[in-house]
Amino acid sequence: MTNIPEADLDDRAWLQESTLTHGVPEAARRMALCGPADDPVLRTAAAEWARAVRAACGESPEPLAADPGGAPSTPRVVMGLLSAMPRGLREDAQTALASALSDEAYAILPVDGQGAAVVSRTPAGVLYGVFHLIRRLRLCEPLHEPCVSSPKNAWRMLDHWDNADGTIERGYAGKSLFFRGGQIDFDEARVRDYARLLASIGVNAIVINNVNVHETETRFLTEAHLPGVARLADVFRPYGIRLFLSINFASPVDLGDLPTADPLDPRAEDWWRAAADRIYEHIPDFGGFLVKADSEFRPGPFTYGRDHADGANMLARALAPHGGVVIWRAFVYNCLMDWRDRRADRARAAYDHFVPLDGRFLDNVLIQIKNGPMDFQVREPVSPLFGGLSDTNVMLEFQITQEYTGQQRHVCYLAPMWKEVLDFDTHARGPGSTVAEIASGKLFGRPQGGVAGVANAGDDVNWTGHSLAQANLYAFGRLAWDPSLDSAEIAHEWARLTYGDDPDVVRAVMGILMASWPAYEAYTAPLGVGWMVNPGHHDGPNPEGYEYSKWGTYHYADWQGVGVDRTMATGTGYTGQYHEPVRSLFEHLETCPDELLLFFHHVPYTHVLHSGKTVIQHIYDAHFDGVEAVAWMIEAWRRLQGRIDPVRHERILARLEDQMQRAIEWRDVINTYFYRKCGIPDARGRYIYP
Ligand code: GCU
Repeated sequence: MTNIPEADLDDRAWLQESTLTHGVPEAARRMALCGPADDPVLRTAAAEWARAVRAACGESPEPLAADPGGAPSTPRVVMGLLSAMPRGLREDAQTALASALSDEAYAILPVDGQGAAVVSRTPAGVLYGVFHLIRRLRLCEPLHEPCVSSPKNAWRMLDHWDNADGTIERGYAGKSLFFRGGQIDFDEARVRDYARLLASIGVNAIVINNVNVHETETRFLTEAHLPGVARLADVFRPYGIRLFLSINFASPVDLGDLPTADPLDPRAEDWWRAAADRIYEHIPDFGGFLVKADSEFRPGPFTYGRDHADGANMLARALAPHGGVVIWRAFVYNCLMDWRDRRADRARAAYDHFVPLDGRFLDNVLIQIKNGPMDFQVREPVSPLFGGLSDTNVMLEFQITQEYTGQQRHVCYLAPMWKEVLDFDTHARGPGSTVAEIASGKLFGRPQGGVAGVANAGDDVNWTGHSLAQANLYAFGRLAWDPSLDSAEIAHEWARLTYGDDPDVVRAVMGILMASWPAYEAYTAPLGVGWMVNPGHHDGPNPEGYEYSKWGTYHYADWQGVGVDRTMATGTGYTGQYHEPVRSLFEHLETCPDELLLFFHHVPYTHVLHSGKTVIQHIYDAHFDGVEAVAWMIEAWRRLQGRIDPVRHERILARLEDQMQRAIEWRDVINTYFYRKCGIPDARGRYIYP
């Protein structure tokens, strides 16, 4: 079993339990629950509030009746279902919640002066509201401030890429929390702690296994494993989190039951219907399936000459009677490309595959689209499939685990990148057609939508390997709930919840987080080209690691210039997948944003950017500046010695020092690579290895 030292504060992440020196408001010390006390989620809500108050002041809150009746009323915290609220409160809450579209929305209303009521139409909504109230308590904000909060996205999902043997694909934080030795085998207390963390940021769905489903995980659908899956679902349920499985499209064949998995063959359809029925017997609120099909050697409908709508709809029909959904991934491309063919372009693939199918997917199918057209690089344009599909439910997929963004050895706070994606205006329905509006389903009036993140947590004591990577998990949940939040404000909130209120500490943590993505981008692959990493494990640097490969990941650097011509005029035509005016913006050198220049254009090293620098000088400057930024982070962190508990301080210092060495390696390899290609010296005379 996991052995977490009592004193390790990283284990509590943003749900710290230190005594609050500023005390707790009187109202917090009394609580009342409205609604069926045996509802598991309501029970969790009440228990979480009691736990938070006990941690803050050493005493449990006193339980009271929700309606004081004739007794003198005292400030208190009331929590519960709208339908169960005492009359006056119910009317106020009804008015407050009237405009909230989601049943998971909550309202907070003042009660008797300093008291507060947390009200929702559903137990899950009450739980989210209680966690909001706990944030207020810890941040010393007034509990009774009225507010209404409704999640923008119906699905707020974490995708675990965990394997049955306990390894995690692209995992940088230890082993799986769910599996060991080919079995579902977990430390219940630890998984419950994880569920608490997730519920506190509004996550309501979890896929427990890798999208690459191997032999053992294929069997998760069978009686041999379903009781184990059900035990995991039991742990997540009281936190309002529904469990999903990644499935193998060829299961009927691989499990030896059928000669075919053809989605139009009635035997396959019947097989999946029986599988779904079986799963729901064990897990009545099972969420559904996540599917990677016809991608990177995974099986799919193409084997049978069928398309992705045929495949997804067959599964959707099996799940529909139980209220389940199919999350079908758009990450479909040819991974056997020829680097010699400069017209072929992997970036085009998702759009080319899925736009012709628009309108054919059933209502309980969501197409899960990676934020960019390639694969979670540090800088990519937004996938044109957002706005390309208007008659299909979609879901946005982010990668919280830092596969290409430093593998949790580098600090890289991803919320600013995600915000750029969410705020990006596709112009699919004119101005204001942002990715956030599309992913939620709102722009096109779709019945479902959501945001998924590839999880970054494992069984490491601090959950995420790098303690500062906890901020990414936190920010993911907060943004999936409310994409309009500001990434710096989220960082601020996280820093205060995690490290307390010392203003110097908060300032330093925020400063490091906000500087981190720009720094990582600066010292790695330049101006949107990406992929200058070692094949396989994807840790860099290796400027030509993917240059002559079959993966469709090229930058075409030669002695004169670098970049991929994706224009309609002379290149792969990829820019044509965007709506105007985005299409023209990217198509023309004069308007293409600097940071994406090499993604869209092949230019000479002497090309002058909007910044006024040449491409080559930008590369040199960025790489020197990026390393400087890491040096600054280390200094800022060192100054916090004695202001943060030593365990957490030393753990992060060690990571930052390691990051410095890695950043220097990146800087020198990339600068030398380009210097050798073009022979142009640094205008500022800094040393570049010949
Ligand atoms: C990336 C990643 C793989 C993963 C794949 C996916 O290519 O390197 O490990 O399986 O994405 O998203 O399916």
